[in-house]
Amino acid sequence: MVETTYDDCWLRYDRVEETLRAAYRERLSHAYVSEGAPELGAVRAELRRGLEGMLGREPHLWQHPPRSVDSFLVIGHPEEMRPISETIDPEEAWDLADGGFLLRTVEWEGQECTVLTASSDRGLVYGTFHLLRLVATGEPIDDLDVCEEPANANRIVNHWDNPFRRSVERGYAGQSIFDWERLPDLRERYFDYARLLASVGIDGIVPNNVNTGIPPRSTANDAVAERAGWQLLKRENLEKLEALASVFRRYGIRTYLSINYAAPIRLGGLDTADPHDPEVQQWWQDKVDEIYEIVPDFGGFLVKADSEGQPGPYDYDRSHAEGANVLGEAFEGHDGRVWWRAFVYSEHDDRAVQAYEAFAHLDGEFHEKVTVQIKNGPIDFQQREPVSTLFGAMPETDLGCELQITGEYTGQGVHPTSHVPMWKEVLGFDTHADGEGTPVKDVLTERDGQGIAGVGIVGEDPNWTGNYLLQSNLYGFGRLCWNPDLSTEEITDEWVRQTFGHDEAVVDAVSEILLDSWQACIDYHTGGIGLMHMMYNGEKTLENHYDPAPWEWPEYHGATADGIGVDRTTDGSGYAAQYREPLTDFYDDPETCPEELLLFFHHLPWEYELEDGTTVIQRLYDDLYAGAAAVDELRERWLALEGQVDERRHRHVAERFDEHALQAKRWRDTLCEYFYEKSEIPDEHGRVPAG
Ligand code: GCU
Repeated sequence: MVETTYDDCWLRYDRVEETLRAAYRERLSHAYVSEGAPELGAVRAELRRGLEGMLGREPHLWQHPPRSVDSFLVIGHPEEMRPISETIDPEEAWDLADGGFLLRTVEWEGQECTVLTASSDRGLVYGTFHLLRLVATGEPIDDLDVCEEPANANRIVNHWDNPFRRSVERGYAGQSIFDWERLPDLRERYFDYARLLASVGIDGIVPNNVNTGIPPRSTANDAVAERAGWQLLKRENLEKLEALASVFRRYGIRTYLSINYAAPIRLGGLDTADPHDPEVQQWWQDKVDEIYEIVPDFGGFLVKADSEGQPGPYDYDRSHAEGANVLGEAFEGHDGRVWWRAFVYSEHDDRAVQAYEAFAHLDGEFHEKVTVQIKNGPIDFQQREPVSTLFGAMPETDLGCELQITGEYTGQGVHPTSHVPMWKEVLGFDTHADGEGTPVKDVLTERDGQGIAGVGIVGEDPNWTGNYLLQSNLYGFGRLCWNPDLSTEEITDEWVRQTFGHDEAVVDAVSEILLDSWQACIDYHTGGIGLMHMMYNGEKTLENHYDPAPWEWPEYHGATADGIGVDRTTDGSGYAAQYREPLTDFYDDPETCPEELLLFFHHLPWEYELEDGTTVIQRLYDDLYAGAAAVDELRERWLALEGQVDERRHRHVAERFDEHALQAKRWRDTLCEYFYEKSEIPDEHGRVPAG
C-alpha cells in the first residue's frame, strides 16, 4: 500500500547549530544500549534517527562499553550493565514510578558516561525521547542529573474513531488513521504515531469511539451495525487489535477498547445485559479472559453508558456503580481496568447539575478496578467552563479527567486555539476537597488507577491535526499529563523550537500566537463573561458545532428582554451548591464570582455594572469585537513570518487564518446582533447595527 507522506510534527530532528554540534557529538556518538526488551529496539531506532538528523551522523551502537572513546551513552536497566550498576544506586532506579527514568552524567573507569536507566522498559523509551528533546531544544547535556517520573499514572488518548467506516467523530483532520479493514497489516503511520505519543509520555490509546453503536441518533441499519465499534469485541477483531497493540507496545503504550454495554446481547446472544444477571457476569468475565489471551498487556475498557443513546445499567434500573462493577470484577487478576465516563445528561433541567446528581452519591461504591472519567467542565468542552463539581465530590473513588485535544468548540481543525492554558487552569483549580489546596491535579494523582484522558485529534491529513499549529495541543497534552507543573510558556517554547527551529523571531511570533489564541477564542465565541454553547447544531444536517446560532439553545445563555445568563446559584439550578465551601459562596455571589464565569452562574440585567463600570451588554459587545480583532492580529503575526517558515507550512497555516478571521467576525456579528435584538441597548461605540 502506498502511504502518503506526512509531517514529522515535533520529531523533525533538524540539524542543530554548528556551534553546539561538537559538544553533543562528543557525548552521543557512541552508545551502549541494552537489548533486553522490544522497547530497546525502538530506543536504538530512535537514537539513530534522531542523532543522525540533528548531529549529521548516526551513533555507533555497541554491545559492550566502548573503551577507545572518552565519552559514551549507556542505556539499560539498573543492574544490567557495569557502567550503570557501578555508578548508580540500583535502589534509586528501581524505586522510580513506572515510566520514570534517571539521566545522569557520571565517570566510570576514566570515561565520561551519560547514563539513562529506569525501572521499566517504557521508562527507557521516555528517557531516550527526553535526551533527544534536550538536543533538539539546544539544552546543554554535559552535566546531567535528571530524575523524572510521570505525575499521572495513566496518560491516555481516547480516539473517537469509527472503525471500518474510518470516520472520526469530532475529528477535523481527515479519516481515521486506523484501518481495521486491513489489519493485521501494519501501516508505517502507526509506528510514527506511537513515536509521537511516546515522545510526550502517553502510555495508552483507545482506538475506537465511545459511541460504539454508531450512529447513536439515527436508526441503525444492518450495514452500519456491521461496521460499528461494538464489533471489535469479536475474536477476529481482537486479533486485529493485537496487531495494532504490537506496534504501540514497542513504545510502552497499552491498547484499550471502547465497549458497548449491551455487548452480552449483541455479541453473546443473551437476552439481557443486566449487571446482576449471573450469565451476564460470566459473559464479561469470559470476554475479558479471552482478550488477555490475545492481547496480554490489554489496558482495559472505556465505557459511555446511558448517555446520548448508548445502552447502560439504567436500562435495568441499576446505578452507574452497579453497571461499572460487573466490568471491574471481570478485570480482577488482570492488569487492566474500566474507565467509566460520567458524561451523562438528559433533556430536562440544567444539564450542568446532572453528572453530579448521577454520580456523587455513589462515591465509595465503585469497584477498585473502575475509574470514573469526568469531563473537565459540567457542560461539554466549551471554550471556557467552570471546573466540574465532581472532582471535589468523590474522594473514595478513582477519578480520571477527560480533556479534549481535538477542537470541537474551539475552531475545529481551522483555528489554532491552544488548549494548554485552559488545561493548566483546570488542573490548577482548587476543589477544596481536602481543605484549601486540593487542586484537580492532586486529586488525580493520589492512586495508580487515576490519570488523564484526552479526546484524540489526529487523522489522515498530512499534517495530522488539520492545522500545523494544532500539533501543539497533542504535544502539550502529553507534557501536562507527565508534569502538570510545567508552565504553558515552557511547553509552548519546547514545541515551537522542535517544530520551527530556533530563529528567535519565529519562536517569539509562534509562541505569542499560541499563548494569545485561547483568550481570543473565548472572546469571539462567547463575549468573555461566562456564556457558552451558542453554536449551530442542526439535528437534520451535519452537527457542525462550528457556526454561531445563539437562538438554537436559549437555555444555555438565558438571554431575555430583561437580562442574560443562567441562574445556577444555590437558589437557582443549584449547580454552585455542588461545590465544596467556600466555593459555593464564592460563585453564589455575583460580587465575588469571577467575571469570566459570571453569566454561567448568574442571570443579570443587561445594564448590570461590572467592576470597571462597564455594563454587561457593553462588555459583551466589547469583548466580541476584541476577540475578532485579536484574531486579525494573530493572523498578521503569522503572515509576517513569510520566508522565515518553509513555504508549505506557512501557506497552509495562512489559509487557515484567512478562514479563521472571517469566522471570528461571523461569531462577533451574529452574537452582537442577537444580544442587541434581545436587549435593545445599542453599542456605545456604534459598531453594532441597530436592527
Ligand atoms: C459531545 C460530542 C459528541 C460526543 C459526546 C461525548 O456531545 O458532541 O460527539 O459523542 O460529547 O463526549 O460522548
